[in-house]
Amino acid sequence: MASKKRIAVVPGDGIGQEVIPQAVRVIEATGAPVELTHFDWGAERYLRDGVTVPPDAFTILARDFDAIFVGAIGDPRVPSNIHAKEILLGMRFKMDLYANVRPVRLLDASLCPLKNVEPKDVDFVVLRENTEGVYVDVGGCFKQGTPDEVAVQEDVNTRKGVERIIRYAFEYCNHHTKQDGTPRRRVLMADKSNVLTYAHGLWQRVFKEVSAEYPQIQAQHMYVDALCLQMVRDPHSLDVIVTNNMFGDIITDLAAALQGGLGMAASGNIHPGKTSMFEPVHGSAPPIAGKNIANPIGSILTAAMMLGHLGMAKEASKIEEAVLRAVQEKKTTQDVGGKLGTREAAEWIANSVGRN
Ligand code: NAI
Ligand code: MG
Repeated sequence: MASKKRIAVVPGDGIGQEVIPQAVRVIEATGAPVELTHFDWGAERYLRDGVTVPPDAFTILARDFDAIFVGAIGDPRVPSNIHAKEILLGMRFKMDLYANVRPVRLLDASLCPLKNVEPKDVDFVVLRENTEGVYVDVGGCFKQGTPDEVAVQEDVNTRKGVERIIRYAFEYCNHHTKQDGTPRRRVLMADKSNVLTYAHGLWQRVFKEVSAEYPQIQAQHMYVDALCLQMVRDPHSLDVIVTNNMFGDIITDLAAALQGGLGMAASGNIHPGKTSMFEPVHGSAPPIAGKNIANPIGSILTAAMMLGHLGMAKEASKIEEAVLRAVQEKKTTQDVGGKLGTREAAEWIANSVGRN
């Protein structure tokens, strides 16, 4: 028998504590050969002993695990959000997980707020640069607390960083198809190069160079504001979108709305060949935490994505098929039209996985 894949599980804060154990139960229902190790990193641990991530944690994760499965980090009791920065951005930056992959798929027409939109019309992916941009914490304040206060936050874009995510997008087309089996053949780069002429001028130049190496794939460009309009007006026209860290963050919340809300959206933080991290797109949702109402599907689809990444395509499809059935039969939480609680919705999916 193949050796088990080792997965580090970090439920984190708020609804992360509820949805991740449920997604784990679905993974177990597939019979996938995995060995799970739980870590208690999050607000509770930080408030108890001041530890955000223990020393050497990232080295250990990279060395001893095949993947990391994270819930969400963020808690109103830690207003600085320092623990989230160290845990989540720590993984993304220190483990160099440069490709944030966010598939956007509509599973059932009833989930989309747009009129006359079918599942076949919403099937694209956003590839968000995940290690640079305005998220790198370069900047500072000057004359803070005075009327002359100045705040500067730098937007860092390197040729290496821009090139590898753009190349990832073209390679993604070569290795992924749409749900209906048709190949992915278009890469759209979204920026704001009309205004951010230096930073996004670099994106423009690199996109032109890299796209020339992939003549069989159509290269398109849109300013990010125009793309927002397009996402709502004609989501069918979209295939693979590549963009910087901040724009990717923002447009994937809009994209989540097309698929039924944040409770439905999955993501992977990937560096090919290295230990990668998988997490639902949503945060810790403090107002709904602890009530058994959070939608576990985002985490369950994230688990499927992780298993697929680890070479367990059969187990991943089993999960995706069970989620589709749950959505079609409304065996879901209220945010997507069902009547079940978090645990009950996940249990239905786990049972459905187990039957197949
Ligand atoms: P959020 O994603 O937690 O919530 C946004 C909205 O979506 C809320 O109305 C919430 O109730 C709803 N929602 C989210 N997940 C849901 C689910 N599974 N089922 C049903 N409804 C769901 O974002 P928000 O409110 O901006 O942030 C809350 C906290 O989470 C903050 O501390 C923030 O920093 C953190 N956060 C962490 C992220 C991460 O760990 N990757 C990502 C986004 C936010
Ligand atoms: Mg976000």
